[in-house]
Amino acid sequence: MKHKKHIILIGYMGCGKSTTSVKLSYRVKQSLIDTDKEIERIEKRTISDIFATDGEEAFRQMETDYIKSLISSKAKYVIATGGGLPLRAENREMLKQLGVVVYLRTKPETVYERIKGDTTRPLLQCEDPLTRIREMLVSRKEAYESCADIIVDTDDLDVSDIVEKIVTLCKEH
Ligand code: S3P
Repeated sequence: MKHKKHIILIGYMGCGKSTTSVKLSYRVKQSLIDTDKEIERIEKRTISDIFATDGEEAFRQMETDYIKSLISSKAKYVIATGGGLPLRAENREMLKQLGVVVYLRTKPETVYERIKGDTTRPLLQCEDPLTRIREMLVSRKEAYESCADIIVDTDDLDVSDIVEKIVTLCKEH
């Protein structure tokens, strides 16, 4: 591939960033970074623990600090981001600076099917996760779409199709 920068996957929880990033990383031969996993490694505790002990704002600051630390990196990565990372304007600016931003867009119903029963996402531990997902997708739409260079609608695609689509579209960038 000719692109010079990182490939960054953004999107809501359960949109397939983690699975897609693993395959994409093999496909384009670029090492993988997952911001959630990096923050858990640095903090030596889970995201649920961070939310429970320090709250969401503290976690958001950790995301900003981590993204900042990538600006000076020389290697080319595939970067999977936490679903809320593009919410801060300064993070969106940094992501754009870091590389080609790919938004994996997913319908609320698809997200719900994927994440129901999952207890590792503190923001979806509620009575009615589907309604919550719908509301959050509406409120985050502008942040995701304004940050993206490329948008891939993933509902009807399998991971291999998504990866090939990303590779093709990145070549045009
Ligand atoms: C969040 C998404 C999660 C994780 C945290 C908050 C969000 O990452 O960063 O639970 O606000 O959308 P995934 O998108 O990888 O689930």
